[in-house]
Amino acid sequence: MEKIVIEGGHRLEGQLPISGAKNAALPLMCAGLLTKDGLTLHNLPALADIKTLSSLLTELGSDIQYSGENKGIGQGQAVTIAVDHITSTTAPYDMVRKMRASILVLGPLLAREGEAIVSLPGGCAIGNRPIDLHLKAFEDIGATIELKDGYVRASGKLTGGTVHFPTVSVGATENILMAACLADGTTLIENAAKEPEITDLAHCLVAMGAKISGIGTSHLEVIGVPALHGAEYSVMPDRIEAGSYAIAVAMTGGELELIGKGLPHVLTGTLGILRQAGLAFTETDRGLIAKLATDKIIGINAVTQPYPGFPTDMQAQLMAMMTLCDGASVITETIFENRFMHVPELCRMGADIMVNGSTATIRGIGGLLGAPVMATDLRASMSLVLAGLAAEGITEVNRIYHLDRGYEHLVQKLSACGAKISREKADNM
Ligand code: UD1
Repeated sequence: MEKIVIEGGHRLEGQLPISGAKNAALPLMCAGLLTKDGLTLHNLPALADIKTLSSLLTELGSDIQYSGENKGIGQGQAVTIAVDHITSTTAPYDMVRKMRASILVLGPLLAREGEAIVSLPGGCAIGNRPIDLHLKAFEDIGATIELKDGYVRASGKLTGGTVHFPTVSVGATENILMAACLADGTTLIENAAKEPEITDLAHCLVAMGAKISGIGTSHLEVIGVPALHGAEYSVMPDRIEAGSYAIAVAMTGGELELIGKGLPHVLTGTLGILRQAGLAFTETDRGLIAKLATDKIIGINAVTQPYPGFPTDMQAQLMAMMTLCDGASVITETIFENRFMHVPELCRMGADIMVNGSTATIRGIGGLLGAPVMATDLRASMSLVLAGLAAEGITEVNRIYHLDRGYEHLVQKLSACGAKISREKADNM
């Protein structure tokens, strides 16, 4: 196993390419199951989660070919997913356990084969994360759902219908959207999630021949078609990666041009909060320049919300930034019930944070101190990297397999902009 070692206190300068979004790439790859023709995706990030999903799709009968498009850091790779025949409709426990997003094969398998058997994902480090909303929505459009031996079996011919989500769910919206494309009827999805990754998926499905209206809104209408065809599609840039690096600039000083098409738009919600905290952004023809426009980071109040609100996936990174604010900050987490696990580790680096239920109060301190730390999930790990970049002395971030799930070429990208950061062999932890 490896760890990341950071010598803090170095300014970041230069250009930093933003990779394709993991959370867009995963559902897009699952959409490949909906057609017999090949779906080619460009700008796919090279991440552990993408490999995990590739293995699952292969197990279901996909032929997956990666092309040598990866021309350099942040340039992305291309993949063609061809699924002439689905050879299995079962997503086994071993795969779903590794990555919860595996549940997104349920909708495409059910729509194409009339059956999908997917292991229940079980608990997760950032909360309970049930899949009841997915299952109820499949029932609403004609499926029969049975739960047995830790597996969900969805079956039947999809007829379409009206789905009204009581709470906004990104994954459930994606799953039902994919399934509805091949239903024998029209599906209305009300209170749909509006995250840019869903818009990306919808545009790709339309390129494959789906009939979807209301894209980008909370009311989606899908007129089912008998079959979808192949397409080529480019994955959107990762707004969470971009937001994380903007925070790195705020915490270390300097100026970064974040390179990625459409970044200002997909960063809605994040930019507003970061501007309040003192960051300035300038649009360029390639992306966005980020720098701190004030002497000190300004303390703010932030509440995580579905898009276009401030994303829960940026909460841990924002908290790392607020440890250095002038005054105090309050961050409230409304999406996941157990997403403050970075707090004790940040406190070990000197942060002053008090948690009360879903609210954290952060009092700004003069500076963080490097320490050996470890995290339990992807975004928490990034908050510790950010703290390490700003801290005095050496920070060692352990259990970096979390980071490898979501931040492509992290060490190379930050090193190229002046950070002192490396991967080294870890002691057994
Ligand atoms: C996706 C993202 C994740 C992000 C999250 C919220 C991917 C691969 N992952 O996760 O990075 O943090 O959106 O923006 O895109 N819920 C239920 N029942 C369900 C489904 C969800 O109660 O059937 C609850 C969840 O526990 C959570 C809330 O709804 O409290 C939102 O979850 P959801 O939007 O579904 O998150 P994911 O799709 O799992």
